[in-house]
Amino acid sequence: MSEVLTVYLGDTLGLYRALDRNGPMTAPQLASETGIFPRYAREWLEQQAAAGIVTVDHVSAEPDQRRYGFPTGHAEPLLDPESPYWIAAFCKSFVAIAGVMPELVSAFRSGGPVPWDAYGRDMIEAQGDFNRWWLVGSFGTGYLPSIPDLHERLSSGVKVADVACGVGWAAISLARAYPNITVDGFDLDEYSIEIARRNAAEAGVADRVTFEARDAADPALREAFDFATVIEAIHDLSQPVAVLGAIREMLKPGGTLIVADERTEDAFTAPASETERLFYAYSVLCCLPSAMDDPSSAATGTVMRQDTFEGYAKEAGFDEVSVLPIEHDFLRFYRLDR
Ligand SMILES: C[S@@+](CC[C@H](N)C(=O)[O-])C[C@H]1O[C@@H](n2cnc3c(N)ncnc32)[C@H](O)[C@@H]1O
Repeated sequence: MSEVLTVYLGDTLGLYRALDRNGPMTAPQLASETGIFPRYAREWLEQQAAAGIVTVDHVSAEPDQRRYGFPTGHAEPLLDPESPYWIAAFCKSFVAIAGVMPELVSAFRSGGPVPWDAYGRDMIEAQGDFNRWWLVGSFGTGYLPSIPDLHERLSSGVKVADVACGVGWAAISLARAYPNITVDGFDLDEYSIEIARRNAAEAGVADRVTFEARDAADPALREAFDFATVIEAIHDLSQPVAVLGAIREMLKPGGTLIVADERTEDAFTAPASETERLFYAYSVLCCLPSAMDDPSSAATGTVMRQDTFEGYAKEAGFDEVSVLPIEHDFLRFYRLDR
């Protein structure tokens, strides 16, 4: 955990990027290049070398004469946000969680929430980056084309809603893959919407993708969409049945909703797999507390099992729920037809 926090410094201060761009550097050079204080640069570089994250040419040289390098194989996990091995996002999320520990302690005692926006911008950015690699790399170009009827409908040009869209990667991925569709993204969180708009502009799809800060439980848009997605958000909602019901209302008859959520085990087991342990840790530290904003919250938590989701879907009026044959280590893909 302690080294995870030092990776956060290297990521946020642009230290890895500078090492990667410039080749081996001394501590004074890194400090000057990135605008950080030289003594801190030296300590961070020594720590990173001690941890095996960067290399050092001569350990016995004077501290400010040593040159530190960035191994080629470390660029992908530390610098490439579209790689499945990108770990910088996890480090960022743990820093965000550490920042709300006093609020979490109080919430455990009171039963109240730690709202999603209390985790701050780092958490929102980290969440966007968790799913970016597969949303950008496979969702529109691999996963959906493998489902013939969905691919055919999306190719013909339809109206799509991305609900609880976060920073917008699902909407952007769909718009890039299917040039005839328009996508409207909705999320409660204003900062997520601000980033989503910027991401869409940079991806060149802002003419067909819009984002709006809005409560997904608000059923204002009746029968406006042919297709909808909810990516890794149902378990975070305090009112999942109300939101699923509102999405059903938003869909035209015959419309389809795709939900991606955690690929949990069928039942509680202990000790559990590494994946389930990760889900539980995020559940305790973030997903459950952020959903406890209402005494009537479903209080689902990250470990939403398949039968729990199917129960929510049926209660919301979706009679048809199936699991799509999409291989993903962390997520299960549900299909719900109106
Ligand atoms: C774990 S994030 C997932 C975001 C995004 N889909 C992704 O995969 O990165 C859950 C999101 O649900 C949003 N959210 C929670 N309750 C909501 C509601 N009632 N209406 C709209 N968005 C909501 C949060 O603001 C947050 O952005």
